[in-house]
Amino acid sequence: MSGCRVCHGVVTPFLDLGKQPLSDAFPADAEEAEKEYFYNLRVGSCRSCSMVQLIDEVPREQMFNDGYPYRSSLSSVMRDHFERTARELLDTELSGPDPFLVELGCNDGVLLRTVAGRGVRHLGVEPSAGVAELARSTNVSVLTDFFEERTARRVHAEHGQADVVYAANTFCHIPYLDSVFAGLDVLLKPDGVLVFEDPYLGDIVDRASFDQIYDEHFYLFSAKSVAAMAHRFGFELVDVERLPVHGGEVRYRVARAGARTPSPAVADLLAEEDRRALHAPATLEDFARRVDRICDDLVSLLERLRGEGKRVVAYGATAKSATVTNRAGIGPTLVETVYDSTPEKQGRLTPGAHIPVAASTGFADPYPDFALLFAWNHADEIMRRESVFRESGGKWILYVPDVRVV
Ligand code: SAH
Ligand code: TYD
Ligand code: ZN
Repeated sequence: MSGCRVCHGVVTPFLDLGKQPLSDAFPADAEEAEKEYFYNLRVGSCRSCSMVQLIDEVPREQMFNDGYPYRSSLSSVMRDHFERTARELLDTELSGPDPFLVELGCNDGVLLRTVAGRGVRHLGVEPSAGVAELARSTNVSVLTDFFEERTARRVHAEHGQADVVYAANTFCHIPYLDSVFAGLDVLLKPDGVLVFEDPYLGDIVDRASFDQIYDEHFYLFSAKSVAAMAHRFGFELVDVERLPVHGGEVRYRVARAGARTPSPAVADLLAEEDRRALHAPATLEDFARRVDRICDDLVSLLERLRGEGKRVVAYGATAKSATVTNRAGIGPTLVETVYDSTPEKQGRLTPGAHIPVAASTGFADPYPDFALLFAWNHADEIMRRESVFRESGGKWILYVPDVRVV
């Protein structure tokens, strides 16, 4: 039992995914593979505020540093999503005189490049120096640092208050949200808004997408837990919007308490979460049982295919897949190679499981019999690009919400 990272309430564990490596640290060779950092991946839910969170916290510098390999711009669907999001913000919240946007975790500048292109004042706050540099090379302004109260005060002192603080797939990466909200209180204009989008607990439970749980994803947010968190820090949840990206997310809008009228969508999603008992222990325990079944079914299938002499590879060296391979015990004897488009991952080994990563251009050379789709959240985009694989007799293996071959 440990205390809630948001409200200090009692956190009850409901899922143990065992010893796990850093999900985005790909060892260069066998020697580096010997020195991997491991932690216990356990998930619990706060009895007081319902926040679903990891029990153990990995030091942030272990995860987010110069070598952080994730590149936001590698998916065309995500590029479109962020361009659309930037335009929407520019046409609404950022349409006043001399607006200012701060983005937490801007990565390679996938969203901010549209904002910079319009000549609007902006600043990315991004601790991983490699990706921050990629953003700068597209004319995006970036402060290489972790966002927290200290950074917010610095940004405020240098640039003034912000109309919008935006974060995609980053807010859930930050355990120390008390410090983040103290910073937002300084940095946001009186009528400013925090907009953040992250994988939604409701979708994770529906799809049994347990691989959304790994070191970086410290919180699995819901409307209920975000509303409670905002309230605790003097803010208010004023809008929610479900998004189809990354297997199902919610975009939350949070303003200073009383500053804006909450949209009916907030009450609707809260009521839906209540109706389906999303936060009930029985719901979360049932989710944990489905995770066990998926892992057992996946290993059985891979062992059967190996017995039949089939060639099985994987597609997408995702951070998510570290949870799957290390929980289920899937290594190079069951999956020969993982094909991936990220230059920084190619030629390396997957975390913990040590499956070699190769450039996705090699996938067709020759096609395998089966490809385990680790990047299932990009299924449409990948299956479209690799349509010849299936046309020539290849089959995809999917594992959420259950194990199946298509
Ligand atoms: N927004 C991008 C990137 C998400 S990956 C997208 O949606 O694709 C998460 C990013 O958050 C990483 O680039 C990581 O370096 C950054 N990050 C982690 N902790 C942070 C913090 N405290 N403040 C700002 N960025 C952080
Ligand atoms: P993603 O699922 O976005 O995130 P995470 O690592 O947080 O789980 O990662 C997608 C991975 O798949 C990334 O390593 C790039 C790779 N990829 C391809 O190889 N080809 C593709 O067409 C796409 C869209 C992604
Ligand atoms: Zn709590």
